Amino acid sequence: MEKEGKKAGRWVLVLYPFQGHINPMLQLATILHSKGFSIIIVHPEFNSPNPSNHPEFTFRPIPDKLSESNVSLGDFANLVLTLNKHCLAPFQQCMNQILHEKDSTDHVAGIIYDTLSYFAQSVADDLRLPGISVRTSAAATMLVFAVFPNPDKEDSISENQTLEVDLQILQLQQLLASILRNPTDAMSKLRTEVIHATKSSSAIIVNTMDFLEEAVLSKIKEYFPSPIFPVGPFHKLAATRSSSLLKEETNCLSWLDKQALKSVLYVSFGSMATIDEQELIETAWGLANSELPFLWVIRPGLVRGSEWIELLPKDFLDRVGERGCIVKWAPQRKVLAHSAVGGFWSHCGWNSTLESISEGVPMLCRPFVGDQLLDSKYICHVWKVGLELENNNLERGKIEEAIKRLMLDVEGENVRKNAMNLKEKTELSLTEGGSSSNYLNDLVKHISSN
Ligand code: UDX
Repeated sequence: MEKEGKKAGRWVLVLYPFQGHINPMLQLATILHSKGFSIIIVHPEFNSPNPSNHPEFTFRPIPDKLSESNVSLGDFANLVLTLNKHCLAPFQQCMNQILHEKDSTDHVAGIIYDTLSYFAQSVADDLRLPGISVRTSAAATMLVFAVFPNPDKEDSISENQTLEVDLQILQLQQLLASILRNPTDAMSKLRTEVIHATKSSSAIIVNTMDFLEEAVLSKIKEYFPSPIFPVGPFHKLAATRSSSLLKEETNCLSWLDKQALKSVLYVSFGSMATIDEQELIETAWGLANSELPFLWVIRPGLVRGSEWIELLPKDFLDRVGERGCIVKWAPQRKVLAHSAVGGFWSHCGWNSTLESISEGVPMLCRPFVGDQLLDSKYICHVWKVGLELENNNLERGKIEEAIKRLMLDVEGENVRKNAMNLKEKTELSLTEGGSSSNYLNDLVKHISSN
């Protein structure tokens, strides 16, 4: 993307410090920079991005006082609440410094923040600056928050109220029942905070495409008054550099170069999911028995209680030999764009979902928690670009069968065709006159007026 003429105003972008959030926020920063805006990245010290990968931005770390136990307990709601509590005062100080910098002639136009770093909105309110909320997951997750059962609040949709057809297909009601019924106090508090901040924001940016979530997006507009800009997929709108926290093993790309067209199954469960030894072993034999080449990301820590691949049986490694490539972390976007990749066995994180859709790669879905369950429903039942792997049936025979269905069998043909159609639609949305391109122009106009 051509860098456009310099626009007045610096924007402060506030990160939520996890890989699945850092990537899209830095991609958005790159898009805005390419449109001529100056960018200051404020980030908690935990999981700091590497500033040398992005010399075009100014980076400002703020202390977050997160402890190992805050992060390792896996208590999502308490982690978000704690982070927001700890970062509020340091961010106020940081903003005061930025606003009083002597050497800058450019005014600070506003604050753009990850929805989960909602502390930024209250600082924006205090400073009377516009605050823009960025949803890095599917737009539908905003609705999940809004329909969170909360009898004390009149602004939430009642649990029993019938939702739009698309949402019924998504089985949102069932998801709500299973994920959100009897929410913990922390979850209820988080819901209130997120809704409050999002309603106070002057605009909402979502990493999605209009055609992917059309009905959901129009429903959201009834609940959130600010303008909404679905300008995804961010990673396709600007040539972004890697923001991986782990080292990418690029040797897998030369391994891919040696494989036949669309023959490889790429397997990765993102940056946070964990599995047990039994699942590792069943996965290994399912892959081996499929007889297909595979590229498997086994992140250190993926298997609970192990360092890396020491639990993999020697006879599995001997059997697959050069047919399998195992890495600790892959350059995922390049992998999915490689012509040898024919399928993606995924945990259905939203970034992985968008990256796969953008390259026309069909998915085998093994969601773990939270929005991944929703994304998997979208992939398999709404867009029909993937097949579900039943989580309670992750046994080698079933895995082998599912891999073959996705990659080879006639049964998977429609899914493979739909995936290519969705890639074309994505490309269209990004070209001039397409929905993401139009929304991006509108967004640039909107933020240029501050
Ligand atoms: C988390 C949640 O799990 C997810 O559901 C939510 O939508 C965002 O936060 P994560 O588990 O990291 O995200 O998954 P995902 O959203 O797919 O993001 C992972 C990112 O890491 C992707 O951008 C992917 O390209 C990248 N990645 C992953 C690599 O670069 N290399 C790898 O080997 C694996």
